[in-house]
Amino acid sequence: VSTAGFDYKKGVKNLIEIAPEMKKLPSEFFLNLPRNPLSALNINDELPVIDMSGLVNGSPVECRASTVKAIGSACALWGFFRIVNHGIEARLIEEMLEEIEAFFSLSTEEKMRYASEDVMSPVRYGTSLNSSSKHALHWRDYLRHYGHPFQNSIHLWPNNPTNYRNAAKKYLTEMWQLAMRIMGAISEGLGLDQNYIENSLGEGCQVLAVNYYPQCPEPDKTLGLGAHSDHGGLTILMQNGVNGLQVKHDDTWIAVPHVPGTFVVNLGDFLEILSNGKYKSVEHRAVVNSEKTRISVAASHGPKLSTVIGPASPLINEGEEIQFRPITYGDYIRVQQSSTIRGKTILQALM
Ligand code: SIN
Ligand code: FE2
Repeated sequence: VSTAGFDYKKGVKNLIEIAPEMKKLPSEFFLNLPRNPLSALNINDELPVIDMSGLVNGSPVECRASTVKAIGSACALWGFFRIVNHGIEARLIEEMLEEIEAFFSLSTEEKMRYASEDVMSPVRYGTSLNSSSKHALHWRDYLRHYGHPFQNSIHLWPNNPTNYRNAAKKYLTEMWQLAMRIMGAISEGLGLDQNYIENSLGEGCQVLAVNYYPQCPEPDKTLGLGAHSDHGGLTILMQNGVNGLQVKHDDTWIAVPHVPGTFVVNLGDFLEILSNGKYKSVEHRAVVNSEKTRISVAASHGPKLSTVIGPASPLINEGEEIQFRPITYGDYIRVQQSSTIRGKTILQALM
């Protein structure tokens, strides 16, 4: 079967179902990559590892203090870290992955019921980048929807598979609590009250982005997700055991392998802005492979959409210039998600 004239909006999984013997990547997916994304890699550096047990209630004061310090230094030097002893049960992670696999195994028609051109739609199934404007395609299908506060969108989440809403609600509830624990430590590390960042979120806005990257016939010619920074405060990333994440560190790409039982956490633009640029939201991307389908599950945690985002006032010294122009978080997401230019251009436009 020829792939010429395929309807890309139906997704990459649909494409390989139509043409299972495909050996060549359709040229629509070619990305003009400066270097082969699979080979231009620094493999010696590793993300800082944070032991979350230092932040649980009742842990000794000096233990909390050293964890706060370790998180602060990871935020300043990397914008990314790996967490261990996070308290999320393996069974919940498995259940969430099972429901996601079941969702993506549905027929294309069924998934297309959730397709939308509106980047702010509470639930969206789609492919490539979020934007509907013309761009080189990316080897990725996705499901995105809001999470906490659940009453705003849970009735719109997929109800096929039947356990999806239940599993996603449990998973996202745990992610929200974990994110607030980390934000408490980040607040303290910045010299703010422990609740400062959490309070600045108001009722908050959690966004789940499930990325589905099928096996790719020519993985070095495209990407699953191009270089970008995240819009939110903190993103907590879970993966199905297949590698693909790369993080920009000191201007080189670092491969961040999946380590079972851990999550990768990163700072988004909202925290770069709140910290008045002290902490950076760091670019990252996803490469694809020819052997296995990769699933990554990113939960982002930011403020209520109507919140005007800006630096925390206690961090601005008298006479110091504020680095960012004010914008609501909702408008920020809209602009960022509508763009096909990635990297950190959207945040830089606010400076
Ligand atoms: C993301 O940036 O949302 C996901 C990256 C990945 O797939 O590892
Ligand atoms: Fe991301």
